[in-house]
Order: sequence, then C-alpha cells, then structure tokens
Amino acid sequence: MKPLQVGLLGMGTVGMGTWKVLRRNEEEIARRAGRPIRITWIAERALDVAREATRGVTDVNLTNDAEVVLAHPDIDIVVELIGGIEPAKTFVLKAIANGKHVVTANKALLARHGTEIFAAAHAKGVMVAFEGAVAGGIPIVKALREGLTANRLEWIAGIINGTSNFILSEMRARGAPFAEVLKEAQARGYAEADPTFDIEGIDAAHKLTIMASIAFGVPMQFEKCYTEGISKLTREDIRYAEELGYRIKLLGITRRTPAGIELRVHPTLIPARRLIANVEGVMNAVLVKGDAVGATLYYGAGAGAEPTASAVIADLVDVTRMHTADPEHRVPHLAFQPDQLSDTPFLPMAEVETSYYLRMRVDDKPGVLADITRILADRDISIDAMIQKEPSEGEAQTDIILLTHRTREKNVVAALGAIESLPTVAGPVIRIRLEELN
Ligand code: HSE
Repeated sequence: MKPLQVGLLGMGTVGMGTWKVLRRNEEEIARRAGRPIRITWIAERALDVAREATRGVTDVNLTNDAEVVLAHPDIDIVVELIGGIEPAKTFVLKAIANGKHVVTANKALLARHGTEIFAAAHAKGVMVAFEGAVAGGIPIVKALREGLTANRLEWIAGIINGTSNFILSEMRARGAPFAEVLKEAQARGYAEADPTFDIEGIDAAHKLTIMASIAFGVPMQFEKCYTEGISKLTREDIRYAEELGYRIKLLGITRRTPAGIELRVHPTLIPARRLIANVEGVMNAVLVKGDAVGATLYYGAGAGAEPTASAVIADLVDVTRMHTADPEHRVPHLAFQPDQLSDTPFLPMAEVETSYYLRMRVDDKPGVLADITRILADRDISIDAMIQKEPSEGEAQTDIILLTHRTREKNVVAALGAIESLPTVAGPVIRIRLEELN
C-alpha cells in the first residue's frame, strides 16, 4: 500500500529520534498502522545536520524552508518538532489551513494557543495529535483521553519536569546545593533551552494545563495556572521533610472541587512511602484518580530523543489509522466533543485547600511557641505535627517546623504575615505545601 507521507519540521533531539525509530521499526509500525509511514521531507535550518543524519537514504528530501513542506501536495502529515511559540504556531496553522494533519510535541504552543489551533483543525476536519507534549514517552494523553474515558476524573498529580526532579533527587541524595546540581542537569542536556522554564515550574505548568483540559473537558488556560518553582528550596527543608517522613517533589496538581478546578505547580511534600515519592532522577510519573478506577500511576522517561519519538510515532500511527474516518468519528482533541467543553472556573490559589509545612527561626525562650500557635488557631489552622530543633551550641535561636492539617491558602498567608511580625521570629517563614495523595 502507498506509504503515508510525513513532512518533518525540525531535526533537533526529538526530530532525530523520530527519524531513527521510524526507520528502525518501519516494518512493525506498518503492520500496526495498516500502511507504511515514511518521512519524505525534512525542513531543518542546519541542513548539514539533516544531511548527515539521512546519509545514504535516497527517498527523503531536505530543505531549509519549512514553507516547501507545508505547501507540498504529497505531504499528508506535518510533524512539528521545532518547539517554542514562533514560528511553530504559524507553521502549525498553515499546515492545518493546507488540509494536513499535524503531530506536535510542543507543550508551550498548545498550553498557550491550543484553543485557536484546535478550533482551526476542527473547522478544517484535520487532526492535531500531541502525545509527545506531555511527559515524553509516557502515553498519558492516550490514557486520559481514551483508557479512562468511563471515569469522572477527580484529580491528577504529576512529576512532569525531569530536570527539576533530577535536581531535587540529587539535592536529597548527595546534600548538594541547588546551583551545583542545576549546572549538572544542563551539562547532561536535560534542561530546556531556557532552564528557567524547568526550575520555575513553567514547563510543568504547560504540561499540566494540557492534562487538565483533557481530564475535565475545559479549554486550555495556561494563564490560570499557579506556578512556583524549586529555585528557592534549601537542603535544610529537604532534610527536615525527610525527618518527618516526606519527600519534596515539584508536582503539577489539578483537582476538581465544587468551587472550581485547581491548577497549580509548586514544590510539595508527599509521604515518602507513596510510590510516586520514589520517582527519582529525570523520570516522570503521573498519578490519576478516577471515580471508577481509583488511583492509577504512569511512570517512564519524560524527555529524551527516543522516548519522545515513541510518543510522536504513536500519534503518527493513530493519524494513519483514522485519517480516512469521518471527523465526527475520531477521538476529540480534548477528549470531550468540542461543543461539550465546559466553562467551569479555575480556582484562585487563595481559595485552594491543602496542608502546609512551615519552618521558622525563633528565639528560644518561653511563650514564643504559644504566640505562634495562637495566631494559627485564630485563623482556624490546625497543627498536625511539630518538631523543634536543639539550638546549636551558643545560639539563642532555633528552628521550629510545623505541619498543618488542610486549610485554605488565604488563611495561611494571613497567619504568616502575623507570625513574621512577631519580634521573636527572625526572617521569613518558609512555607511548602503538603499533599497526602490518598
Ligand atoms: N525539560 C523538560 C524536562 C523536557 O526536564 O522534563 C521535556 O519536556
């Protein structure tokens, strides 16, 4: 049967992986897809890189002009692996306008412009597939959109940025400082081009925005995501958390509540005995709670050439199988039919309920703890556990660590303001959110 023809935009890490895996497993993939899938055009600015990668292959054409691929009448599917917003957005919209299906791993593009892109695709009757955009090789989009379709999904909590998970793992295991481990992550090529995206939670927020849309059938609204990264975490807090039986992870959490949908990325204490707490290094994991299935956990490589290629090619196979089907009979982009998306609001962070780890440096003298607990009690914040460290030799101050029961964020913000203004409390109170995930 005539191969389905693919135009690849971008021969970077993932583009290269896609090229290699598709050629290596060509026969088996064709047996699954029902016909061969072949990359016949590659657009890459660094033509020498593309030439080197495709050396000896005669049935592929190279260009440094993406427009050639986007307009080529033989191309059925455009694979966008350029990343970033522009020119990727223009290329994706042009591919759609030219009636081509699109496969992309571009999380930033979808999280910020997904609504426009899916509307254009829907109007044109083409598919936009994006498994590679979330958690690399883990088929989490497929799981949320199809495997769990019977469920009313309740919440998702994921370790969805490998770089920050690597940094936190190394800080805990070796007691290494943040800056040193970040340099190592960059040297190993884990980090995004701009590592701020990794360490400040932006990359995770992009991926969480996409998952929340599919899970709850709401349009993608990246701007509603509360985002806090790991750059201010200290080794002390990682150690204290461990003494209390917790690990600190950068989690993306989205939860359906009666008041709205929570959408938040921040460092989180989670019980060390949970499976997800033991996901170390660059690996990713996503925990999904559905009303029928209960909790399910998905684990695997969240980045890298071949793991992400695995997701991109799975999308190519899906598109190949479905491209002749009536658009009404395909799986909807966001799992729910386009006219069935809901306008459920997202919850402002001040209204979110969670537990807290609070660390404060205080004078070691009578009445200090009583003042602090009074402030918490006045704001209806209940203490779950507490440790007070022995002051070091000759020191008049010590660390107090409190864990709270679930409470509303705005109550904690108000309490911390009052605690920080006590003359017996030195410096800001460290506040890290805590989730039991049960
Ligand atoms: N920089 C990302 C990470 C790569 O560290 O997880 C995949 O999105």
